[in-house]
Amino acid sequence: MCGIVGILGSGPVATDLVDALRRLEYRGYDSAGIATVENGHLQRRRAEGKLRNLETRLLTEPLSGRTGIGHTRWATHGRPVERNAHPHMTALVSVVHNGIIENYRELKAELTALGHTFETETDTEAVVHLVSDEMQKGLGPIEAVRVALGRLRGAFALGIIFAGHDDLMIAARQGSPLAIGHGTGEMYLGSDAIALAPFTDTITYLEEGDWAVLRRRGAEIFDKSGTRVERPLIKAVASSLLVDKGNHRHFMAKEIHEQPEVISHTLANYLDMAAGTVNFPALGLDLGGVTRVTVSACGTAYYAGLVGKYWIERYARVPVEIDVASEFRYREPPLGPGGLSVFVSQSGETADTLATLRYCKASGQRIVSVVNVRTSTIARESDAVLPTLAGPEIGVASTKAFTCQLSVLACFAIALGRARGAIGPEQEEELVKALTELPRHISTLLRNEDEYERLAHELSKARDVLYLGRGTSYPLALEGALKLKEISYIHAEGYAAGELKHGPIALIDENVPVIVVAPEDDLFEKTVSNMQEVAARGGQIILISDADPSKAGCKLAAHIRMPKAHQFANPLLYAVPIQLIAYHTAVFMGTDVDQPRNLAKSVTVE
Ligand code: F6R
Repeated sequence: MCGIVGILGSGPVATDLVDALRRLEYRGYDSAGIATVENGHLQRRRAEGKLRNLETRLLTEPLSGRTGIGHTRWATHGRPVERNAHPHMTALVSVVHNGIIENYRELKAELTALGHTFETETDTEAVVHLVSDEMQKGLGPIEAVRVALGRLRGAFALGIIFAGHDDLMIAARQGSPLAIGHGTGEMYLGSDAIALAPFTDTITYLEEGDWAVLRRRGAEIFDKSGTRVERPLIKAVASSLLVDKGNHRHFMAKEIHEQPEVISHTLANYLDMAAGTVNFPALGLDLGGVTRVTVSACGTAYYAGLVGKYWIERYARVPVEIDVASEFRYREPPLGPGGLSVFVSQSGETADTLATLRYCKASGQRIVSVVNVRTSTIARESDAVLPTLAGPEIGVASTKAFTCQLSVLACFAIALGRARGAIGPEQEEELVKALTELPRHISTLLRNEDEYERLAHELSKARDVLYLGRGTSYPLALEGALKLKEISYIHAEGYAAGELKHGPIALIDENVPVIVVAPEDDLFEKTVSNMQEVAARGGQIILISDADPSKAGCKLAAHIRMPKAHQFANPLLYAVPIQLIAYHTAVFMGTDVDQPRNLAKSVTVE
């Protein structure tokens, strides 16, 4: 989490640092700050809360200087107050940091004993004093950082500048991503290429353990052992990306409405729609020989993986083991040779997903990732990448990335089933057709949002909301509950409809809305029985279904009428109303929809 930037510019850099930070606010928005070298001295401005607070401060207290670093924070160590905001500094050195320095306590104790005074509750401050201490002992800045890096444990990306050194910045990467941008007589540093898009599209990604010395004329990169290394220059696609809301009030609304287009785009990458076949890229393994798949991811991406499990088991007849990435490796699951491990991640930087990927790789699995950011660490460490073509997702609550993940996993299930002989040509055509009809159905759904506004009014009064679903609708119930709680702060839980009577039914009374995701498929009748159990206890049922409401057999508080689609494609379709319910409820309640409290878009800590 946290976003870092650095600029060695040809003119004043404060405005550009803030511009770059705006593109990184998805990584955290608890506080923001910048520091520059001004007439040989380090100066900084910081502000609690969102970047706009820092911008306001800079209007009255501007910073000059052609060399600077900046940071937007997602608090890990220390409360989100100005004192803990980055950059942290002494008179000699200023540091921005993303990640966690695990041994900061022992470093702090050691440096305090040497006479250093710590002013913050952060782990980062240990780095500042460690480098300063080496410089006070007489080392030059580069040598001081080299020695300090050798003492740090944990995951970090660092940007460091020095008093009296206008043409010097040091970057270091261990476990957290970092990109160097090359300009003409200018150099840049950023947590990702999107941050640097306004300045340059020529990027070098630091590799694990790398550190780099940046000057305006270029960068020298060293690996962990201190050996000078060359890393490739890449033309980043990110530079063409425009990050704006169009005519929508929030990024989340824009991203929900982009779904017909981005799903089409993603499907077109994996299907031959005219021929009714999947057109799957070679994964460097014989899909026909795959006998076991493991899937791992976090949050919404995990729920996409859970839908994938239902599809792969039902249609490709391959057993799938799935777990949240934050638990997977702690079970130390035995993974036999020749297995396939699939990782799902929008950002491609989620720390737990990456750690699980490395665990599976070390266990000899073939690594395939479904990612949205193709230059991400997860993509780069995979044997094969299945990109989702969702475009940048800015709203912290994932919407279009989720449905694009589902699109890729659906195509993967067909490809696997075909390769294993579980799906014949006729069924392949039927399933492909079901997917190709989706964008049209979703466009229809998005044409009428009035009913969600009405529903939002009711839901906003609730303290708890339950979501129920069976089969592939179960992960959607989980996703619906996650979406609602993360942006409206209403407590919500998703349950497998059949589990209700094993405990959660005790929660039902006339004040608890129960949202039931129930397409009229082969499980519909069973879900109807569960709905009646809720109705008998006075629960307020909101049914999302293509079935005629009379088939519910009980009184409904609301019915969201869905278009009729193939059962296989339904999870993508039913994702849309659960997104709209959460969105409109949050808007009605006046929360910060795109940047909900305590969250960040890219979760690079475990
Ligand atoms: C919720 C949400 C998160 C992410 C999770 C994984 O709306 O967006 O639950 O899905 O943090 O992130 P990625 O997909 O970047 O690995």
